[in-house]
Amino acid sequence: MQTIVTESVDVAARWLNRGEVVAFPTETVYGLGGDITNEKALENIFAAKGRPGDNPLIVHIHAPEQIQDIASEIPPTAEIFIQHFFPGPLTLILKKNTTVPNLVTGGLPTVGIRCPAHPVANEFLKRCNHPVAAPSANISGRPSSTDWQAVYDDLKGKVRCVLKGPQSTIGLESTIVDCSDNPPRLLRSGAVSLESLRKYVPETLPAAPAETHQQPKSPGLKYPHYSPSAQIELCGGGYSDCTGSANSAWIGLSSPPEKVSKIALCKTPEEYAHKLFSFFRECDREHIAIIYCEMPPEKGIGRAIRDRLQRAAEK
Ligand code: TXA
Ligand code: MG
Repeated sequence: MQTIVTESVDVAARWLNRGEVVAFPTETVYGLGGDITNEKALENIFAAKGRPGDNPLIVHIHAPEQIQDIASEIPPTAEIFIQHFFPGPLTLILKKNTTVPNLVTGGLPTVGIRCPAHPVANEFLKRCNHPVAAPSANISGRPSSTDWQAVYDDLKGKVRCVLKGPQSTIGLESTIVDCSDNPPRLLRSGAVSLESLRKYVPETLPAAPAETHQQPKSPGLKYPHYSPSAQIELCGGGYSDCTGSANSAWIGLSSPPEKVSKIALCKTPEEYAHKLFSFFRECDREHIAIIYCEMPPEKGIGRAIRDRLQRAAEK
């Protein structure tokens, strides 16, 4: 299959409305979209990524009003999160409407819904005839794609169209909070921090620690994730101090050990998040053997970075 790369939201939306799979930019990471009413498109998303069928897709919308077509119930806690964080890097899990196909939700009675805060994503989604089911636009298990070249490297020949936009500003996938139960529970950390969710709904429960992911509420959490080919070594913040080694790289907030050959020194946790996945991919292109990753403090987006690093190191 020939993969078309375009900057035109019209062209991209036309392909999607014809039942094709289209990658598109968002502020978190690039998504791999298909029309939620088109079974073939949904199947093609799973096939292109090599994604297990029990791992559900997030439904993307351009306006909060569309939620009532997807969810059967919007509890008060969800209303509060929608009011404060939509559009943005937050996915809400709600009880699904009967019209949402089981292929989207992996057979679950709930559905993930996100309204991206990204002008290109927003324009694209507006032109799509129906809401768009989209996982991250990467081969399953690989780091998510934060620029169109990464999407193209992973998926060329497997998807019809890549909508080219700027590099994702946040760089980590959305925060997922399950509002289908009371109190709401964080399932995946992201740029909308636990602290900011609790500011509006103080009883919001934290995400279960990484060790309990064998029986996760969010099916995706049990699969390996975010892994570059290089070995990941976690450093600092309770982990050992890294000494460095030949053909290694360092990403973190403080000064690297002496012996590393490639360095991403980040001034803030936000910059760390923004750079993380593209740095992993760069290291792979340069055949780096070990990436030393400094664990950031466990607050704000630091929680999301720690989560991705722990799971990248697990493989
Ligand atoms: O930022 C993001 O969320 C990106 C962009 C493209 O929106 N998407 C993304 O999708 O990261 P994906 O498929 O890579 O991750 C979605 C996660 C998976 O872990 C999946 O198991 C979980 O969301 N999920 C989806 N629907 C769910 C549901 N009904 N209940 C629990 N978890 C769900
Ligand atoms: Mg993903």
